[in-house]
Amino acid sequence: MKNDIRDQLQRPLRDLRLSVTDRCNFRCRYCMPEEIFGPDYSFLSSDKILSFDEMERLTSIFVGLGVKKIRITGGEPLLRRNLPELIERLNQIVGVEEIAMTTNGSLLKKFAGDLYKAGLNRVTVSLDSLDEERFQALNGKRSTVKRVLEGMEAAEKAGLQVKVNMMVQKGKNDQDIVPMAKFFKEKNYILRFIEYMDVGNTNGWTKADVTSKKEILDTIHAVMPLRPVDPNYIGEVATRYQYLDGGQEIGIISSVTDSFCSNCSRARVSAEGRLYTCLFAEKGFDLRTLLRTEESDQVVASTLTDIWNLRRDRYSDERTEELRVRRRNSKVEMSHIGG
Ligand code: GTP
Ligand code: 5AD
Ligand code: SF4
Ligand code: SF4
Repeated sequence: MKNDIRDQLQRPLRDLRLSVTDRCNFRCRYCMPEEIFGPDYSFLSSDKILSFDEMERLTSIFVGLGVKKIRITGGEPLLRRNLPELIERLNQIVGVEEIAMTTNGSLLKKFAGDLYKAGLNRVTVSLDSLDEERFQALNGKRSTVKRVLEGMEAAEKAGLQVKVNMMVQKGKNDQDIVPMAKFFKEKNYILRFIEYMDVGNTNGWTKADVTSKKEILDTIHAVMPLRPVDPNYIGEVATRYQYLDGGQEIGIISSVTDSFCSNCSRARVSAEGRLYTCLFAEKGFDLRTLLRTEESDQVVASTLTDIWNLRRDRYSDERTEELRVRRRNSKVEMSHIGG
C-alpha cells in the first residue's frame, strides 16, 4: 500500500525532477551567463554527483511515496555519459508511469533512438527564437536553430512525443512570439511560452523584463485567435489554448503573473543529490550523504516524508519584493535543478 504523503498545504508528491549534471554546452544569458560560468567555474566532480545506482534507489523510494512522473533535467542532461542506461533502469521501476526529459536539443539527433529504446516517453526541447542571430545571442553562440530543429525531428521520428519551451524576455525575443506560434501551429509539437523568471542569482532579473501571459496571449490572439482549453490534469504547469481554426495547441507557463503553487506536487533533486521542494529554494537537503551512509530504504523514505510533510513553499504565489531581497544571492541556480 502506497504512502500518499501530503505537505502543509495538502499537496501530494507526484513528480520527481532529477538533474543528472550541472554542466551545459550552452551559455544562455538568463541561466548560465558566460561571465560567471566561464573557464574558471568549478562544476561538480564525478564523485560528488549521484551515481545511476543512487538515482535508481532514490527514485524507487520516491515512487513509494506517490511519485508517478520522472523528468530528467540538467544543465544539459545529454552531457551525462550513458544516460539511456539510467532511463532504462528507471523505466523498470514499478509505479513509474512516465519518463520525460528537458533538453536544449543540440545532442538529440545523436541520442534520440537510444533514448526511446530505453523507455523515454517525451522530450521538451528549449528553443527561444527561430531567428539565428537572436537565438545565438541568447544561448551564448553555442548552437544553431537548424541543429535544434533537427534534434526535434529526430526525436519525433524515433517515437518520442515532443514539446517546445520558449522563454520570453522583453526586448530580447518577444518579437519572436508570433513567428514561433505560426511555425509550431503546423507541427506536431506543443509550444509553451515561459514567462522570464527570477530563478537563481545570476541573471539580473527585473519585473520590467517579463512579457506577461496576458501580453503573450494578446499578441498571438491578434493574429491567430485562441480559446482556453481545460487542463489535462490537476497541477499542470502550463495553461492550454487552442487556435479557433485548428492546428497544434499552445501552453503558457506564467509563474510571475499567474502563479500555480497551490497544485505544486514537484520535488527536485540536483545532480549532487540535494533535495529542493521549490524552484526558488535556497539550501536544499543533502540526500547524497544520507544515501551513502544509510542502508535502510525505510529510513530514507521516512526522511523524505518528514521533509515533504513540513513543506510550505509557495514562492511564486508570494513573490514580494521583501522575499526577493531576502533571498538575493542565496537561491539555487537553474542549472543545478533544471527548472
Ligand atoms: P509537462 O510535463 O510537459 O507539463 O512539463 P513541465 O512543464 O513540468 O516541464 P518543463 O521542464 O518543460 O518545464 C517548463 C518550464 O516550467 C520550465 O521553465 C520550468 O522551470 C517551469 N516550471 C516547471 N515546474 C515549475 C514549478 O513548479 N514552478 C515554477 N515556477 N516553474 C516551473
Ligand atoms: N526564466 C524562465 N525560463 C527559464 N529557463 C531557464 N531559465 C529561465 C528563466 N530564468 C527555461 C529554459 C528551459 C526550461 C527548463 O527553463 O529555457 O526551456
Ligand atoms: Fe540554456 Fe538550459 Fe543550458 Fe541553462 S541549462 S544554459 S537554459 S540550455
Ligand atoms: Fe512549486 Fe515553488 Fe514553483 Fe510554486 S514557485 S509552483 S511552490 S516550485
